[in-house]
Amino acid sequence: LKLNLCVFASGKGSNLNSIIKSGIKNVIQSKVELIISNNLTSGALELAKKNNIPNYHLSLKQFISESEYSNKLISVLQDYNINLIILAGYMKLIPSEVCRLYKNKILNIHPSLIPSFCGQGLYGLKVHQAVLDYGAKVSGATVHLVDEIYDHGAIVIQKSVKVNDDDTAESLQKRILKIEHKLLPEAIRLFETKKFNFEERKVFFT
Ligand code: GRF
Repeated sequence: LKLNLCVFASGKGSNLNSIIKSGIKNVIQSKVELIISNNLTSGALELAKKNNIPNYHLSLKQFISESEYSNKLISVLQDYNINLIILAGYMKLIPSEVCRLYKNKILNIHPSLIPSFCGQGLYGLKVHQAVLDYGAKVSGATVHLVDEIYDHGAIVIQKSVKVNDDDTAESLQKRILKIEHKLLPEAIRLFETKKFNFEERKVFFT
């Protein structure tokens, strides 16, 4: 089943890039139909232009209220018939109205094994530094469903990596980013090819 993907990204967009490449290489059938960023100078918007993908610079501070912002997001998502939303390095909360309308259709990728080293303020290198400071022996990446609380939604897929004694936050980030670039397309593939089931916090595909 080909899904119409919208990717929200705030930063470099290497995860967005891996999704675009996966579509081109037919690793996934779905296509990125829309890119939204809260950051005008993000690599994500550059990638959108380079790949001729419709894109919007949208952020809450451009609007007089959250409901105006939320309505704008919803109308754009509906204009492009989006049926799966991906947060790929997106640093803002998704308005609760959008979470409600797209329940179980918003995925986020986080560079640790949730529920460890996640939540407000733990993003980018800080995640990996926290792993090293804690002395954890494994870390990894998690794709999870998005709800109104940061990094709280049910887990869809995870992959672990060993933490090496000589790892720095940068070397760990680099290794995990490579995992992320495979994990996110893999999660999309699950939604394309399997039936999604959800019991309590447990997600499984049949
Ligand atoms: C990734 O590590 C992702 O897990 C986290 O933010 C980073 C985004 O990197 N949410 P990029 O912008 O996709 O390169």
